Amino acid sequence: MNDLTPDREDRVAKLKGLGCSRKRVEDARFTQGKGNYVDDIKLPGMLHGDFVRSPYAHARVVSIDASAALALDGVVAVLTAKDLEPLGLHWMPTLAGDKQMVLADGKVLFQGQEVAYVVARDRYVAADAVELVEVEYEELEVIVDPFKALQSDVVLREDIAGETSGAHGERRHPNHIFLWEEGDKSATEQVIDSADVVAEEMIYYHRTHPCPLETCGCVASMDKVNGKLTLYGTFQAPHVVRTVASLLSGIEEHNIRVVSPDIGGGFGNKVGVYPGYVCSIVASIVTGKPVKWVEDRMENLMATAFARDYWMKGRISATKDGKITALEAKVTADHGAFDACADPTKFPAGFFHICTGSYDIPVAYVGVDGVYTNKAPGGVAYRCSFRVTEAAYFIERMIELLAIELGMDAAELRRINFIREDQFPYQSALGWEYDSGDYHTAWDKALAAVDYDGLRAEQATRLEAFKRGETRKLMGIGLSFFTEIVGAGPVKNCDILGMGMFDSCEIRIHPTGSAIARLGTISQGQGHATTFAQILASEIGIPADSITIEEGDTDTAPYGLGTYGSRSTPVAGAATALAGRKIRAKAQMIAAYLLEVHDNDVEFDVDRFVVKGAPERFKTMAEIAYAAYNQAIPGVEPGLEAVSYYDPPNMTYPFGAYICVMDVDVDTGEVHIRQVYALDDCGTRINPMVIEGQVHGGLTEAYAIAMAQEIAYDDMGNCKTATLMDFFWPTAWETPHYTTDHTETPSPHHPIGAKGVGESPNVGGVPAFSNAVHDALRPLGLRQLHMPHDHWRIWKAANDLGLHG
Ligand code: CDP
Repeated sequence: MNDLTPDREDRVAKLKGLGCSRKRVEDARFTQGKGNYVDDIKLPGMLHGDFVRSPYAHARVVSIDASAALALDGVVAVLTAKDLEPLGLHWMPTLAGDKQMVLADGKVLFQGQEVAYVVARDRYVAADAVELVEVEYEELEVIVDPFKALQSDVVLREDIAGETSGAHGERRHPNHIFLWEEGDKSATEQVIDSADVVAEEMIYYHRTHPCPLETCGCVASMDKVNGKLTLYGTFQAPHVVRTVASLLSGIEEHNIRVVSPDIGGGFGNKVGVYPGYVCSIVASIVTGKPVKWVEDRMENLMATAFARDYWMKGRISATKDGKITALEAKVTADHGAFDACADPTKFPAGFFHICTGSYDIPVAYVGVDGVYTNKAPGGVAYRCSFRVTEAAYFIERMIELLAIELGMDAAELRRINFIREDQFPYQSALGWEYDSGDYHTAWDKALAAVDYDGLRAEQATRLEAFKRGETRKLMGIGLSFFTEIVGAGPVKNCDILGMGMFDSCEIRIHPTGSAIARLGTISQGQGHATTFAQILASEIGIPADSITIEEGDTDTAPYGLGTYGSRSTPVAGAATALAGRKIRAKAQMIAAYLLEVHDNDVEFDVDRFVVKGAPERFKTMAEIAYAAYNQAIPGVEPGLEAVSYYDPPNMTYPFGAYICVMDVDVDTGEVHIRQVYALDDCGTRINPMVIEGQVHGGLTEAYAIAMAQEIAYDDMGNCKTATLMDFFWPTAWETPHYTTDHTETPSPHHPIGAKGVGESPNVGGVPAFSNAVHDALRPLGLRQLHMPHDHWRIWKAANDLGLHG
């Protein structure tokens, strides 16, 4: 059976393992419309749920009259908080240690809040019935400004009005949630107060929304005969949903099956638990029929988890020659009506304290005040690892402002303050241990690639022409150098609702030499079915094309904490490699037996075990797999399977250098993006083509966020951007062209040296776009302009600078 023909290079190529730009295997079904999303699930006798939502941002619910709705043909039930109360389900715990109303209990706290849940024969009847439910409201004073919330006598959360402490410590006002601090406050103040040069600014990262293509939804199906609940849904963390569903419903966990089918984008929006899930489960238990709930676009934008909304007051100090000496960040975080942030439990401000960025800053302090307002709850990591995007934007703006104070080139200021290669592993002033990096090499490569000096010369020429009145367009060069922190755990300090943030992989090799691997994560478009098979191919010598990757079914997949925060590759990817190594260890014993040598006398070579010093004597992995099932091997159990639960020793710290060049028309506020260069370092690269796709997608989101995308409210708490007419979603038409590049600095603690990448372009892209706008108007006096930089705001900034005559 030995195959003597292919040479080593051919055998490596056949595996399509690490480093191969293997085409995405899942795309065949997506591009042919054969995906299977939640709304494609149709079960016999299925009912449909829909919500009555509050038109007011703050109001007392005086009465709810559902009689007209119940009289409509096809309406099965109308649930209100009163119906859920006996079950203890009218409120539910949030991921952030707070609680949230499932259905309005006495009052509503944001526009779009769920007030009643209608269950009907079909979606149309449900929608008609929603209109027939009569709710009487008594309007209350609305607070949409977090600074005013902390001064106001209006108490938003009456349920906890008297509580002076919450899940994250002391509350100093009824609308205050927590103050979370890190670093040395007095030492930081001392250094800044006596520094040569200080830059100080309020940087606002506006409220936005992940707005995935597919909205949130579920189908709950209670089989009363067997006592089994099946829940299909758009869940980024299916196992956690199973555990929460068990705790809330009292149904034993083995009797709950949670399935995440194909998911049309998540970006953090599908991590949390929403009232729609709870109401659908209750409705299915009560009616004994499957119940589907799928929200529409407006519901998704108005009521499901938003992102950002951080007011970041910063001070940064330096010596006269530009060496940074300290950084201070005092943040006011608008969490909306309930604290439903999706962060690891011990980190109520996520990983915001990565805000010293890529720089060697000796001392720093961060204080984050969480505040309640009359806005939708959430605060998810929209394609970012728990507030890292806010942190990266903050430090990259502060660096630009410091450069202005110093009269120094911002690229050079970055260079002289970067953490040096020989400082890794690097302990940051705010408590992180950066695993690896080579920032200077990446920065030099990026600046050379765009001809930075040439661009600055062109910009100066353009400015002169502008001053002479020969052009109305200014040129901006947006610099950004970011360090991400991805791959939560470790379990010792990262958990969600008490569940440690490990991840898992289980592999079964079939007798004929193909395999299936199941993981605790779930792809929402990232291409796991393609790339995790590549990790395994290199580890166990079975071609990626012969390995099925399966995720998202809690009845079959090992327990894992899911996919968000770019944690899949750092955590589940590591579990995959280690499970592969267990397979390989057993295969080595089998090979040695078959080749009649000692275990130590064979070595792994691409797709086989070879007798050391006798390369013509070998057994391929296919032969070994067959033997595992059909030969009695002394001292070795039959079969070839392995499982690994991986608790990462540290996070991984990918980094990158992004540069955006744009022309800004001061008369119209329009911008023309000339180039976007993105250099990413995510350690060992599994699939360069998938990485490039991830970077393109993330950059497009970054472009949208920086330039136009926002969730905006008026003073009455009306959400002004609840449709795609108002909420900017870039199409191919608006999306600029990208040039991608890379360096490769492996993570020393990850089994294959890989770091995450999915979120890097969102994290690093926003400051690049925003800094370009600032850089264009900087010579004319602009210091800080809040995002998004839409045409109107840029025009207004130019007008305020007196550029319109
Ligand atoms: O957790 P999530 O899947 O969102 O993010 P990720 O771990 O950064 O991975 C995104 C995609 O990029 C996956 O298909 C990864 O396997 C792939 N990737 C890669 O090819 N090489 C890396 N070093 C990191 C990620």
